[in-house]
Amino acid sequence: MAQDNANRKRSWAEPYKIKMVEQVRMTTVEEREKLIRDTGFNTFLLRSRDVYIDLLTDSGTSAMSDRQWAGMMLGDEAYAGSENFYNLEEAVQNYYGYKYLVPTHQGRAAEHIISQLMIKEGDIIPGNMYFTTTKLHQELAGGTFVDVIIDEAHDSDNEHPFKGNIDLDKLKQVIDQYGRDRIPYISIATTVNMAGGQPISLDNLKQVRELTRKHDIPIIHDMTRVAENAYMIKKHEPGQEKRDVRDIVKEICNLTDGATMSAKKDALVNIGGFLAVNDQELFDKARNMVVIYEGLHTYGGMAGRDMEALAIGIRESVDEDHIRARVGQVEYLGKKILGAGIPIVKPVGTHGVFLNARRILPHLSQDELPAQALAAAIYVDSGVRAMERGIVSAGRDPQTGDQIYPKLELVRLTIPRRVYTQAHMDVVAESIEEVWLNRENIRGLKFVYEPEYLRFFQSRFDLI
Ligand code: F0G
Repeated sequence: MAQDNANRKRSWAEPYKIKMVEQVRMTTVEEREKLIRDTGFNTFLLRSRDVYIDLLTDSGTSAMSDRQWAGMMLGDEAYAGSENFYNLEEAVQNYYGYKYLVPTHQGRAAEHIISQLMIKEGDIIPGNMYFTTTKLHQELAGGTFVDVIIDEAHDSDNEHPFKGNIDLDKLKQVIDQYGRDRIPYISIATTVNMAGGQPISLDNLKQVRELTRKHDIPIIHDMTRVAENAYMIKKHEPGQEKRDVRDIVKEICNLTDGATMSAKKDALVNIGGFLAVNDQELFDKARNMVVIYEGLHTYGGMAGRDMEALAIGIRESVDEDHIRARVGQVEYLGKKILGAGIPIVKPVGTHGVFLNARRILPHLSQDELPAQALAAAIYVDSGVRAMERGIVSAGRDPQTGDQIYPKLELVRLTIPRRVYTQAHMDVVAESIEEVWLNRENIRGLKFVYEPEYLRFFQSRFDLI
C-alpha cells in the first residue's frame, strides 16, 4: 500500500484509524511542580492521571488492534491445555522458528528461568550491553555480565548504523580468558535498549554465531524488539533492502539457540512474555521450573485471552506498514529534536529518542544525577513523562557496593506503539526545546531513599 506512494508527494500518516479514545488530563505547571516534589522527583512514582503524554516506556503501553480485542473474546480459560496456548505456540514457531515455548507473565520471568537453569556460581555472561533486569537475574544466579558491545555504542555522537554489534575481539578475549566452561551462553539483545534502541546487524550476528559454534557456546536472544531490529537491517544493511521484515526476523532467530521475550513491546500486548528454546532437555527443565514460579506450562502466568492477543500481536508486529510507521514515528520525533540543536543519541533508535543529559546539563556532575533532574524538568514543563537511563539505572556493583558510572547519561522519551499521533510528537518536541532553552536553571538531585534492587523504579530524590 505505502509502496504505491513511494514516488509521489504524500505526507507520512499512521496506518490505522482510531476507533476508541481515552481522555488525557491537562495539568498546570504549578500543579506539576508540586506533584514531582511529592513523588521524590522520580517519574516512576507519578500517577498516570497526572501525566499528559506518557513516554515513560514502550512496555505494555501499546494500543491493541480490533483483531486482538476480538481475540480476547476467544479466551479459553482452561487451567490446562488452553486452545490459546496452542495458537501462541504456532505463532512462535511460525514467525520466530523456535521449537519449544514456555509462556511467562513477562520478560523478566523468562530471564529468571533461563538464568537459574544455565548459569552457575562464578560464570561469565558476555553480551551486547546490559539490560537492568537481564543482568540482575544473571547476577542472582551467580553469574557476572561482561559487556562486549562495540565501543561506538558508548558514544552518543557516533553515527554507526549498528551500534548493537558485538566487538568480536572483545568476545574472543573473554572466551580465551575464562574458557568455555565458565561461559554458559552469550546474551544478544535485538535491539539494544540501554544503547538507545540500537540494532545489531545480520552480518555481525552471523560472525558471532560462527565464533560461538567453534567453541560450542549457545546464544540466548533477548528478542524483545526483534521486529524493530529487523526493520533497521532492511533499511540500513547492504543487500537486505528487498527482503520482508518477516524473513529477517526469522533469520535472526535461526542464528540463536533460544530466546527470552517481553511481549509487552514488539508483540503489541499489554502483558505477556515467554521463553523459547530449541533444545529439548533445556525445554523439559524450563517447563518444570515455570510451574514453581509462574503457573502451568500451558499458561505460565497469562490468561488464555492474553495468549490469544499475543499470538495475533506477533503477526501484526512484522507487518511492513506497521513497522515502518512505528520506527518512522520515533525517527520523526528524533529529527525534530535534533533540528533544534539538542544533543541526543545518534542515530535515532527504534523505540525512543534518548536525550544526552550530560551534554544538555554540563553544569551538573554525574553524581548530581543529571538525567533524573532532566526527566523531572520535562515533566514540570509539559506533563510529558520520560525515564532516566543513566547513573540511577546503572546502580551499584553487587560485590563492592560502589556506585557504577555509566558512560551514557540519558533521558529516554519512549514511544508507545500505535498510541500517539504526529501532533503529540510535535508537542513533545516543543517541550523539549523549551526545557533546553531554560537548561541553566535545572538543579541537581540527591538520593533520599534507595532500595536494594533495580533502584530506579522506587528511589526518591530531593534538590541539592
Ligand atoms: N529485555 C529488554 C531489552 C527490555 O527492554 C525489558 C523491559 C526486559 C527485557 C524485561 O521485560 O519488563 O517484560 O519483564 N523493558 C522495559 C522498559 C521495562 O521500559 O524498557 P519485562
